[in-house]
Amino acid sequence: MPNINLTAAKNAKNDEFYTQYADIEKEINAYLDYDPDVFRSKTILLPCDDPEWSNFTKYFAQNFERFGLKKLISTSYAVESKKYKTGYQPTLFETSAPYFDKVKTTKNGKIFTLSHDRTGDQKINVDDLEWHYLDGDGDFRSAEIIALRDEADMIITNPPFSLFREFLAWIVEAEKQFVIIGNMNAITYKEVFPLIKNDEMWLGNGFHAGNAYFSTPFAKEYGEGVYIPETGLVKFRNVCWFTNLDHGRRHQPLPLMTMADNLKFSKHKQLKGKDAYDRYDNYDAIEVPFTDSIPSDYDGVMGVPISFLDKYSPDQFEILGITDRDNNSGMKIKDYTEQDAPNYGDLNRRGVIKIGKKYKPTYARLLIRKRTT
Ligand SMILES: C[S@@+](CC[C@H](N)C(=O)[O-])C[C@H]1O[C@@H](n2cnc3c(N)ncnc32)[C@H](O)[C@@H]1O
Repeated sequence: MPNINLTAAKNAKNDEFYTQYADIEKEINAYLDYDPDVFRSKTILLPCDDPEWSNFTKYFAQNFERFGLKKLISTSYAVESKKYKTGYQPTLFETSAPYFDKVKTTKNGKIFTLSHDRTGDQKINVDDLEWHYLDGDGDFRSAEIIALRDEADMIITNPPFSLFREFLAWIVEAEKQFVIIGNMNAITYKEVFPLIKNDEMWLGNGFHAGNAYFSTPFAKEYGEGVYIPETGLVKFRNVCWFTNLDHGRRHQPLPLMTMADNLKFSKHKQLKGKDAYDRYDNYDAIEVPFTDSIPSDYDGVMGVPISFLDKYSPDQFEILGITDRDNNSGMKIKDYTEQDAPNYGDLNRRGVIKIGKKYKPTYARLLIRKRTT
């Protein structure tokens, strides 16, 4: 029991991570570089964003005119509905509003909208945000926020990590454009992988050097290497942006060596000096243990690490499947039994290499093939 409670507390805390302004700016610049009009005349919904904490609201409000936005809507989740409570004090901004309400301040969500020059200073910016209490608590699944989703062209945010699958499904069912933050492991989920495979979702431009820094009220609870005392932020390596907006990086082909050169010169000792790449026992594919070891001249199916996705260009490769039972690629897979190996359960979920009489499952692999057209 104590473990279950601990996990619940951890998950609840995991929802409160605030994205850095510079990370948002860098990511959004990638879409603008590719198409300077990507946001023109669009209504953007930021559905997990209270401008007091969210740099998404600040960033899009400040760039409202430059991007040519039609409307910005930002909604926040009620303090009392958050799974993990921190000492909350309403800001002066809120308490000084004529419609400040002592009960609603914690029980209701809020909506912030920006569409015109409210202050009359001939500019549309963060000072023109108007706010009200929502009728409900601002849960993205509520009818009130669903109506805002339907009004919007694009959904952009860092959603609660614990509700990532639900959040993505909520966007996809409404067929919206989106840019959201999530854990890289999400691509192996059976609801998520088909979107990647069908080229309906891909990784965004990405965090600088693959490191995502967040502020969180619980930063100090993280250990060395995650909590950065100098900045007070936490650092994660496995976080990425998911999107269906195009950007330049995904059209840059990966520079690769031939199979023969990899076997001769690879910097990885698992490959250098070998006669050939390993073949799976249960898939008609070769095992490529590192993204930089994908041979440029192999036309068959290759199993590559999940992190390949960060380098994936749909012009260069197609994604056929993933070596995981729930996400099977449509390729023939062998069924292992207890007679084959005691760990046959694991074997049935992964690509398997047979070494002598032993079967060795690999990590989850994406199955890819070079594009010929
Ligand atoms: C990962 S944080 C990110 C906050 C902000 N988008 C940012 O990037 O700085 C996710 C936020 O969503 C809120 N949240 C949790 N459950 C929610 C729900 N069901 N509906 C809307 N927001 C929710 C959390 O309280 C938290 O503030």
